[in-house]
Formats: sequence, structure tokens, C-alpha cells
Amino acid sequence: MIRTIIDCDTGIDDSVAILFALRRPEIHVEGITTGCGNTSVDQATDNVLRLLKLAELSYEIPVAKGAGQPLEGTWDGPVVRVHGPNGIGGVELPSSEQCPLDEPASDFIVRMARENPGELTVITLGRMTNLALALQKEPMLPKLVKNVVSMGGVIYGAGNTSPVAEANIAGDPEAADQVIMAGFDLTMVGLDVTMKTRITRQRLEFLRAHCSASNRRVVDYLHGVLEYYLGYYRTQDFAFDHCPVHDPLAVLVAIDPGLVSLKKLPTRIECGGQYCRGKVVVDERPHHFDAPFVTHCLAVAGDRAAEELLSTFM
Ligand code: RIB
Ligand code: CA
Repeated sequence: MIRTIIDCDTGIDDSVAILFALRRPEIHVEGITTGCGNTSVDQATDNVLRLLKLAELSYEIPVAKGAGQPLEGTWDGPVVRVHGPNGIGGVELPSSEQCPLDEPASDFIVRMARENPGELTVITLGRMTNLALALQKEPMLPKLVKNVVSMGGVIYGAGNTSPVAEANIAGDPEAADQVIMAGFDLTMVGLDVTMKTRITRQRLEFLRAHCSASNRRVVDYLHGVLEYYLGYYRTQDFAFDHCPVHDPLAVLVAIDPGLVSLKKLPTRIECGGQYCRGKVVVDERPHHFDAPFVTHCLAVAGDRAAEELLSTFM
């Protein structure tokens, strides 16, 4: 059983990842923490609470609100063109009676790690700000958590917020670099693999036509948000009726690392520069620079991953 804290900036793909994790028997979600990114931290938190209500669980999952700004600089504002006006494609979910904890996300991560040493997998689906803040409060965190799986970065492909940088890393490069330097057992699930894992409209329609009654409301939600997402990728990437699987692939990799080819490489994040800020820098020279080894996903069984994702909601 993978006991996890999911840290997210609840946009469309975060929401699919959360619902997927909640439906998987191999995972127990111990808590969800939120930050700014695709949308404001307040909106991200509200979205998580609404998603938990939609999932109709028999137990309550604590939700802790986190950083509203990156470690340095300021948040750029919501990415409406990708994730809609409310982060979840404009889909209106019923509000929840559950309130977020009084405890900030970074305190929650530290407390949970201390209470469950060596047990927790932290899955980050947004910027690594909350994890970096937790690390500042508890430098032993890399020893207290089992591992970290992060959607973020790109090694050999193109970036999505600049020619070389991916949004979660570019949104807070200092946080990502601090997390890397701390020496966590860290796996980065970047655009090299998420862009090659695609949800197609055809598969979505099949799911909608054949899902069980117990999944009907969740599948209707997926259909609504992914309609928005498909529209963005159709105009942005000339992707005709298919879209990448970013955040859900991090959850899939946490469950089944066999879906990807992995390589450990000495890694840093470029925290300066006009064109390269937020770039993941790996050193493949035999006499490489002095940096911690991070596990990167370089290839993926994309069809299998996409089918595993969607079939979970049948
Ligand atoms: O680059 C893709 C990532 O940025 C995803 O996590 C998406 O939700 C946004 O946060
Ligand atoms: Ca995200």
C-alpha cells in the first residue's frame, strides 16, 4: 500500500490525478496540500474540497492550504486558457462542508512525516514550494519521507512555459533546486513522458458510454473538464482530439514504475538566466558536476498508461 500526501495546484490534470488516486486500491491518500500555480491557492483548495465530495469517500481526507507565492518573486496569476476560470475548466461542482485544516501545508507535511517515519510518498503535481518550506522547517525530511514523485521538468524535449522549462519547475525554480539538493529519493515525471501519454476523445467517449453507475458522476466530471483541456491542446499544439497526461502520470508512476524507463542523473535547476530559468540541468559527462542524483523518466508505455488511467473509472 502506498501511503501518500498529494501536493497540487488544482487545475484540470491535478483533479484527474486526485480522482484517479482516490479510486486506486494500491494508494491511500493521507492528505492533500495545495499551492498556487494553475489557479490561486484559495481556488485550488476549494477545488480539492469539492473533488473529495464528488468522490463520495467513506472517510475524510485532511486538506491543508499552502503557499500563495513562490519562494522568490510573485505568482503570475491563473492560467485560464489551459485550466479555465476556476482551474477546473469552468465546471461547477457542488461546494463541500469540509473545511481546510488550520495548519499550513508545510507544517502538515512535516507533522505527517514525523508521525510516520519512512512511510510516506509525497506526490507533487505543482510547484515544489510547500515541500521546500517543509524542508526549511525540518531538514531531516528527506530521511523521514519514503520518497517523492514529482510531475515536473523536461530533459530532452521542449519546455511548455519557455523553450526549455516546464511550468511546475519554472514557477518556482528555487524550491525545486532546494528539494533536489536536500537529497530526497526523488523521481521526476517530466514532459519527456507526459507529452507521450495521451487521452483521446475516442477513449473518453467509450468510458462515458460504458462506465458503471457508481462512477457516473465522476466520469461526467472528467468529460466536462477534459472537454476544456482538449480545446486548449487543439489550438495550442494542433493536437486533434487528444491531450497529454501530465499529473495523473506521476500517480501512475508511483504505483507502477514499470510504465517508464528510468535513469538516475546528477541534476540541478537553473535559477538564473533570461532564457533558461527553470531548466532542469542534468550532467551526462563521465566526470559530472557535483550534484545529487535524481531519477528521471525518459520513455513511457504511453498507451498502456492512458488505458490504465481511464479504465480505473469504468
Ligand atoms: O507542465 C504541466 C504541469 O503544470 C501540470 O502539473 C499542470 O497541472 C501544471 O501545474
Ligand atoms: Ca499541476
